[in-house]
Amino acid sequence: MTSKSIATLIAAAAGSLMAASAAEAAGELNLICSADVVICEQMLGDFEKAHDVKVNMVRLSSGETYAKVRAEARNPKTDIWWGGTGDPHLQAASENLTLEYKSPMLDQLNSWAVKQAESAGHRTVGIYAGALGWGYNTELFAKKGLKDPACWADLLAPELKGEIQIANPNSSGTAYTALASLVQIMGEDKAFEYLKSLNANVSQYTKSGSAPVKAAARGEAGLGIVFMHDAVAQTAEGFPVKSVAPCEGTGYEIGSMSIIKGARNLDNAKLWYDWALKPEVQSRMKDAKSFQLPSNKSAEIPKEAPRFEDIKLIDYDFKTYGDPAKRKALLERWDREIGAIAN
Ligand code: G6P
Repeated sequence: MTSKSIATLIAAAAGSLMAASAAEAAGELNLICSADVVICEQMLGDFEKAHDVKVNMVRLSSGETYAKVRAEARNPKTDIWWGGTGDPHLQAASENLTLEYKSPMLDQLNSWAVKQAESAGHRTVGIYAGALGWGYNTELFAKKGLKDPACWADLLAPELKGEIQIANPNSSGTAYTALASLVQIMGEDKAFEYLKSLNANVSQYTKSGSAPVKAAARGEAGLGIVFMHDAVAQTAEGFPVKSVAPCEGTGYEIGSMSIIKGARNLDNAKLWYDWALKPEVQSRMKDAKSFQLPSNKSAEIPKEAPRFEDIKLIDYDFKTYGDPAKRKALLERWDREIGAIAN
């Protein structure tokens, strides 16, 4: 072989390598997942198995994701945002940070999921729902002789000093849902008075929404204010955790999904979007102990999922609390009145 033909071969090989990496680049998807890491990883694995797309995933809480998407508005690094509470998805939609997309799967969804899409001009869609409550460690409560907490009011008992964890509503959608729910149940001033009293019992404001009940499961705290399905997940793991739907009533989330405006891998973002609304994909969520109510009408409702029929739910006002100005005002007040005195 002449040195010229070797050079030609090398050039050809380099050319096909470049072509391969270009094809690979076309097969990518940048995902932010705001649900629990176990379901995030399961979704990623299932999607990659079903499609020739490499998914780069980051797990961030709902409020953190909203902040990141806002900060990157001019140069988006994310294609799709799956999971997390609906309010920040609505806030992003109203700021034009997410893309209008009408999935062909829409007519398979429950009305609450479609309503979520319609209220945002189809810049987001509901993927699951779940009610807010708490989980407490029954062994720890029994050992310390603490009363079973059935109502929001019970969480103010002085004996619970240092026993409660809840996330920070700036980072966590769960904690923002708690804040907005209390405001809707009690009125804003009373809700902040309540949160100030509750602060005396709170040992830690975590970054992620479900962390408090994981701490309670391990006995690092007595009780975590979380979505009820996150408490049920700890029970299913074998921990002595009892989940509670507060007696005064409670709010709920419509976990959502949005395509980021300016997504570099738009076709793949739509591929994920349609796929994530399929019944068989949503029915698999329970395998990751993710016990929300699925948005697809034909998806299997996990037997562990807390049912809305059994919970005193408020008529959560997603329009008002999914508004960016409302979010900003409530969080500023939280920082001033609660964050500033937090232990
Ligand atoms: C958990 C729940 C989800 C919820 C999410 C919000 O993962 O299972 O239903 O959407 O928390 O997370 P965040 O950290 O924003 O409160």
